[in-house]
Amino acid sequence: MAKSKPKKARSQGKSAARKPVRKVTKLSSTKKTNGGSRPSSKPYGQAGKALEGVRILDFTHVQSGPTCTQLLAWFGADVVKVERPGIGDITRGQLVDVKGADSLYFTMLNHNKRSITIDSKHPQGMRVLEALVKKCDVLVENFAPGALDRMGLTWERVHKLNPRMIVASIKGFGPGPYEDCKVYENVAQCAGGSASTTGFREGPPLVTGAQIGDSGTGLHLALGIVSALYQRNRTGRGQKVSVAMQDGVLNLCRVKLRDQQRLKAGPLTEYSQYGEGIPFGDATPRAGNDSGGGQPGWILKCKGWENDPDAYIYFITQAPVWGPICDLIGEPTWKTDPEYATPRARLPKLKAIFRRIEDWTETMTKFEVMEKCNAVDIPVGPILSMKEIAEEPSLRSTGTVVEVDHPTRGKYLSVGNPIKLSDSISEVKRSPLLGEHTDEILMDFVGFKTNEVAEIKNSGALSAPKKEEKAA
Ligand code: COA
Repeated sequence: MAKSKPKKARSQGKSAARKPVRKVTKLSSTKKTNGGSRPSSKPYGQAGKALEGVRILDFTHVQSGPTCTQLLAWFGADVVKVERPGIGDITRGQLVDVKGADSLYFTMLNHNKRSITIDSKHPQGMRVLEALVKKCDVLVENFAPGALDRMGLTWERVHKLNPRMIVASIKGFGPGPYEDCKVYENVAQCAGGSASTTGFREGPPLVTGAQIGDSGTGLHLALGIVSALYQRNRTGRGQKVSVAMQDGVLNLCRVKLRDQQRLKAGPLTEYSQYGEGIPFGDATPRAGNDSGGGQPGWILKCKGWENDPDAYIYFITQAPVWGPICDLIGEPTWKTDPEYATPRARLPKLKAIFRRIEDWTETMTKFEVMEKCNAVDIPVGPILSMKEIAEEPSLRSTGTVVEVDHPTRGKYLSVGNPIKLSDSISEVKRSPLLGEHTDEILMDFVGFKTNEVAEIKNSGALSAPKKEEKAA
């Protein structure tokens, strides 16, 4: 097990020069930090972090739960990640690119956290967990259904140990026929309505690269937790916060449920299928690259598309800028021609119109198209590759893309906190090594004495079973 490192070693990336904050203020339901009236006189960004003083018992693994607790950590919560001795979060060893180092999968989802290894099924392990429950404000978990209860940490037990504890869970499905199922990202995308509405009409359902099932649900859970913390200020008691991945995906697909209901009133005229004269069925169809809003849009080729798979741009024929579009593409008569002048007249001809616009976009790079269109307020979206995003200077300067240093893998890029708070600036600190903070958590965080720590450690509750024990 790695020994706990001095705090200095954890400060990484842009903010390496700044001293990391690991000061914990005990939260109190009654205490108002500034009397509720006088604003802090400290400069913005120097009045502590938004969630400073919030202690998170992080029982999450893989992607959905870790996304949530990473966000809370970026906002200043003290996140203690509990991992299984010897193994840790399974993603540490998944998709490994640097032999012997934690994978990018793990490092990019577990910044700003501390790690302790505990065998939750060992009596001394449970002793530590109970002590942690008493000290923390929120327990976050995304185990398979029933796993937390099987560990002995039922809501009733946790609530008895700490009535202020918020217990936040992600499961694949909510109560119902599938509630006991284990679920991963793409299962949720399919069950939440995303896959059936993504892709081209003539092709199979598609999953999307955005991790709306995992990271999307983690985001939902984070909001639930912050809301529950806020309510606890009034009620003084914790509550359960649950998000099902199916529900999280459906929430992100609500425009498709909107369209499902609109079908009763007739065809979905903004879908290119309508312009092509193809009848609608009884469910929201896949819409290819049609825009989800009322303004028709499509992905068009730009210069170099023959060799560059990302030389494309998303073009929206927004009604208010139809005139400037006609001028740009060299079809000024379309501004007044009744066949083209109104959105309704254009609907059946959208395919041909986009082909004409593409004749124009193909003559320029996607960035040139962007420049020309934005100059006259025509919204367009260059298809940026991950390479382009990684190299984009503006994303680096806002901290949305950050370079982080790691003791065993060296420097790597990560996505920093995309949510910017002007008075709670996020510093991105590297993810912890497995069990790196076990000692400091046991002593400083929980308050065990040296002899108690020794007793717990000697029991084997914090370390991987020896080979012979494993085999037995
Ligand atoms: N000490 C001892 N045992 C531990 C432990 C620890 N520190 N941490 C976990 N375990 C045990 C659990 O208690 C469980 O044991 P049990 O089945 O005997 O009760 C076991 O490890 C496996 O946990 P589980 O959650 O079932 O992991 P899995 O790898 O089989 O399944 C998922 C992974 C993601 C499919 C599943 O956790 C799940 O469906 N989660 C909810 C939905 C979700 O978040 N999915 C997206 C993940 S990105």
